[in-house]
Amino acid sequence: MNRRKFLTGALGVAAGALAGRSLREIAWPSQSALAGTKLNVAAKSPFSTSEEVTPYNAVTHYNNFYEFGTGKEDPAKNATNFRTSPWSVKVSGLVDKPRTFSLEELQHLAPLEERIYRHRCVEAWSIVVPWVGYSFNALLKEVSPQSKAKFVAFESYYSPGQMPMGNYAGISFPYIEGLRLDEAMHPLALLCFGMYGETLPNQDGAPVRMVLPWKYGFKSIKSLAKIKLVEKKPETTWNLSSSSEYGFYSNVNPHVDHPRWTQAKERRLGEFFRRPTLMFNGYDQVASLYAGMDLKKNY
Ligand code: MTE
Repeated sequence: MNRRKFLTGALGVAAGALAGRSLREIAWPSQSALAGTKLNVAAKSPFSTSEEVTPYNAVTHYNNFYEFGTGKEDPAKNATNFRTSPWSVKVSGLVDKPRTFSLEELQHLAPLEERIYRHRCVEAWSIVVPWVGYSFNALLKEVSPQSKAKFVAFESYYSPGQMPMGNYAGISFPYIEGLRLDEAMHPLALLCFGMYGETLPNQDGAPVRMVLPWKYGFKSIKSLAKIKLVEKKPETTWNLSSSSEYGFYSNVNPHVDHPRWTQAKERRLGEFFRRPTLMFNGYDQVASLYAGMDLKKNY
């Protein structure tokens, strides 16, 4: 056997042995889970994938939450004392029934479901997470959007005092995001209060966040404080930061590369080999929202 063949073979064996659960355990040895409160989950959702769920410790120690630092492990360290109670979410703009909801009111607007979704970051890593929440459209129905409302603008909570690392993040805060109203009405759009059967850990966007599984992860705004129904397309944080790299739509699309890297493949946390990225992250049921649109232009 020549040296090259030997090395390829040895690497193959090593990769095989490291792939899957064992690699996860090496990368994220079990740590005691952050204290979360159990949530009353009424139902499992038919939208759930049967793919293997990513371990809790990986999902809670590899985060993007720039208010708490830009390193993947920063949010777990720096968000520990973030105050998430009392909490309210203000819904305003083009609605007949504007209202500020307490977290408790919000949590009880609709029965909580567990939804196991794929989550694909624009940076080309992915996870599978059992989120807990309900379709965001339940909240929209509660406030009665007016016919002039075409978009939904979202804003995260921001407190420089509690989030001093935000000063070094290189993006502006509060973090803002947006959806077209019909996207926000799609049943897959989740208003999320928890994961793995418990309330959200601070680093994952406590106490309430959006989860939009067919879009790159940065659309899924964390620690949601304000929602406004508007007529014109709202500004969004990453688009303001670099418009050629991060579009308003940001649907997961293996055929439209990021200017600096391919979007054709992704690395599922804990896995060795990259896997092909699926159109709309595999959520084909949203395709009709974009019928007739050039998704290269509307990236
Ligand atoms: N929301 C706020 N407020 N601040 C952020 O930095 N990062 C986004 C999104 N929501 C972000 C945010 C990005 S880039 C991703 S990939 C997801 O949150 C990450 O969610 P996770 O850490 O729970 O996996």
